[in-house]
Amino acid sequence: MPTDRTADELKHAKAVREMFSGIATKYDFLNHFLSANIDKRWRRLVAQKLKDVLENPNALVLDVACGTGDLSLELQKNARAKIFGTDFCRPMLDIAFNKNAKNASDIPYIEADGMNLSFANESFDAVTIAFGLRNFSNWKKGLREFQRILKPGGKLIILEFSTPVIPGFRGMFQFYFSTILPRIGGAVSGSRGAYEYLPDSVSKFPDQKNLVRMISETGFSDVEYKNLTGGIAAIHMGTKNK
Ligand SMILES: C[S@@+](CC[C@H](N)C(=O)[O-])C[C@H]1O[C@@H](n2cnc3c(N)ncnc32)[C@H](O)[C@@H]1O
Repeated sequence: MPTDRTADELKHAKAVREMFSGIATKYDFLNHFLSANIDKRWRRLVAQKLKDVLENPNALVLDVACGTGDLSLELQKNARAKIFGTDFCRPMLDIAFNKNAKNASDIPYIEADGMNLSFANESFDAVTIAFGLRNFSNWKKGLREFQRILKPGGKLIILEFSTPVIPGFRGMFQFYFSTILPRIGGAVSGSRGAYEYLPDSVSKFPDQKNLVRMISETGFSDVEYKNLTGGIAAIHMGTKNK
């Protein structure tokens, strides 16, 4: 369990936690509204990619930075594996926990920093993270932590905003993402900063190929990605080296 965090990393983590605490009650509505519900399809695709693991009754799956639990719940649908969710923002987790009752679900939600998890080495058959890694104060340290808690041969799946690949579409999307979205998100959530942070953080995050490189360098093999909706988002997958 690494504790080698710099002061800047701790400061970043605190700011991110406070930001999500501030928008937690509006998070789900804005996610679905601003993406015209496409985010739900993206999470369903993650569950499809993990089908083999989810069908295994002995498998353990950890959804890191689970937020309000939408991916954890999607993974749980029809799964025989045991799903766990973890996030370091209590107000987001409270919402996830309340969804358990509505969905006849019993997912354990654990409050923890995804860069410093208290699970033993080689605990999980799969780790997922949706729209979370980008918010970590150090992406490589996060990936190393996922690598540590995965069993050899375990699967990592990252769903994250990425770089649109079609030039004309890229320009239109960037305009929406950096100009319109912060206005709507700011007006509804009362936190314009959070919705300005979103396009800003995406612009700093590695594009598809650079993320493949970073994951591979962390001890994963067969790393590949699938663009979603023209590359607005991408699913990256890797297998922990045996
Ligand atoms: C954009 S939300 C994504 C939530 C959810 N995975 C989804 O698909 O909607 C990002 C989440 O990452 C969490 N997060 C960011 N950095 C984290 C960290 N270092 N450890 C744990 N959670 C973190 C935030 O608290 C927030 O709930």
